[in-house]
Amino acid sequence: MTGPGNYVMSTELLKLIQKYDVQGPRYTSYPTVPHWSSTFGQSEFKTTLESFDRNTIRPLSLYTHIPFCEEKCYYCACNVIITRHKEQADLYLGYLKKELDLVSPSVPKTYSVTQIHWGGGTPTYLSAKQIEMLFQEYEKRFSISATAEISIEVDPRVTTFEQLKTLRTLGFNRISMGVQDFDPKVQLSINRNQTEEQTIQVHTWCQELGFTSINMDFVYGLPFQTREGFEKNLKMIVALEPDRIAFYNYAHVPWQVPYQKFIPEHSLPTAELKLELFQLALEIFKDRGYLPIGLDHFAKMDDGLVKAFEHKTLRRNFMGYTTQKNTLLLAFGVSSISDVETIYAQNFRKLSDYYKALDEKRWPVMRGCVLSLDDQLRREIIMNLMCYLEASIPEMEKKFSTELKQLEPMVSEGFLTRSPDRLQVTELGRMFVRNICMVFDAYFQRQQEPSKRYSRTV
Ligand SMILES: C[S@@+](CC[C@H](N)C(=O)[O-])C[C@H]1O[C@@H](n2cnc3c(N)ncnc32)[C@H](O)[C@@H]1O
Repeated sequence: MTGPGNYVMSTELLKLIQKYDVQGPRYTSYPTVPHWSSTFGQSEFKTTLESFDRNTIRPLSLYTHIPFCEEKCYYCACNVIITRHKEQADLYLGYLKKELDLVSPSVPKTYSVTQIHWGGGTPTYLSAKQIEMLFQEYEKRFSISATAEISIEVDPRVTTFEQLKTLRTLGFNRISMGVQDFDPKVQLSINRNQTEEQTIQVHTWCQELGFTSINMDFVYGLPFQTREGFEKNLKMIVALEPDRIAFYNYAHVPWQVPYQKFIPEHSLPTAELKLELFQLALEIFKDRGYLPIGLDHFAKMDDGLVKAFEHKTLRRNFMGYTTQKNTLLLAFGVSSISDVETIYAQNFRKLSDYYKALDEKRWPVMRGCVLSLDDQLRREIIMNLMCYLEASIPEMEKKFSTELKQLEPMVSEGFLTRSPDRLQVTELGRMFVRNICMVFDAYFQRQQEPSKRYSRTV
């Protein structure tokens, strides 16, 4: 690698990339979704929620999925519905209300909501009035802590000052905006025309309105990204000084996301170039005072994500990284995923199935997972690696001796160090954390064939 990088793209490093650039999970859960069961449904989920002591006080995290977007971005692997028929949102909000009516009585009244997140799709597909109405539905049913972290994903192309003002008045204090890449050629290839002015405008409004943390999403590995173009991109990012940067590795899974077929394979950067882009970003962000968090996030030292990293309360889940490890995460809306102690539950992915279940007064649960003791131990190790790039050995010495042996080549290759009491991922290993986690993934290890479901690890 040339330029300010510490790494030289040596033949040795190229060999490592060739060896480790395989398809693998992103570990937003463990076990990963393909290993959940469709026999898990309403009764398993309801019984779990109702088994909790109704007299204790516990923190709750509430996620709401708003699936609508006005246009399809070709790279996007999220569960979205493209429509400009805004009345669809009214219908959807009616069903969200039905879901809240069905589920909320099973949640102890003593539980306090310390975290709220609305994701998508594009939550600012909703008008200011719809946003207000939806938020009130939550206020009616849950007790929301005065210090709760309340965040929302916005698309600067469709977000107005009026919406942001309403959000701030309701108590939203964190914003996450999608940018992806500033380069018009890259934007054209992913069908996302977003001017620099649009991004700056929404960012300025958020600052004026006093949102306490502003996150921006970027993706590396997108079509036509080059080192030169990307360096420019990175300089524009740091000039805006967002509090957090989510810096995602592009997951190219056209067999799952048909629109990604519009992205020609030849336009995608090679694994070597992706590594170069990531290393460049790592340097520039660190240089500007951002702390790398986990796999793909960066935060300014005074941001809550850094505090959560220091206090070991980070949580990796379907939203990426969040700051509150021990909350019960309840999710509402089509395709959304709840993460409650030792279970995961996912709602129907198709809108028609989600609506049908609610019309029949059933919880719209499509599948889920009850974690065994072994799953729980492995999840702890994988999540520690994904959040803190380390794991404690005494916890695993006996039970995971095979895995520790399997890691030896990665130790020799410099991805991690092993001291008597812990595994520590190195700067080089940061790019290969998913490969390290895969060693502890019992389901992945049991597979006979290499998996074709997942995105590539590098
Ligand atoms: C659910 S999207 C919502 C963003 C919002 N709708 C917007 O477009 O501005 C959240 C983020 O996921 C990331 N993302 C979506 N598809 C991805 C993919 N295939 N690979 C990597 N990151 C992806 C993008 O950075 C995106 O901003």
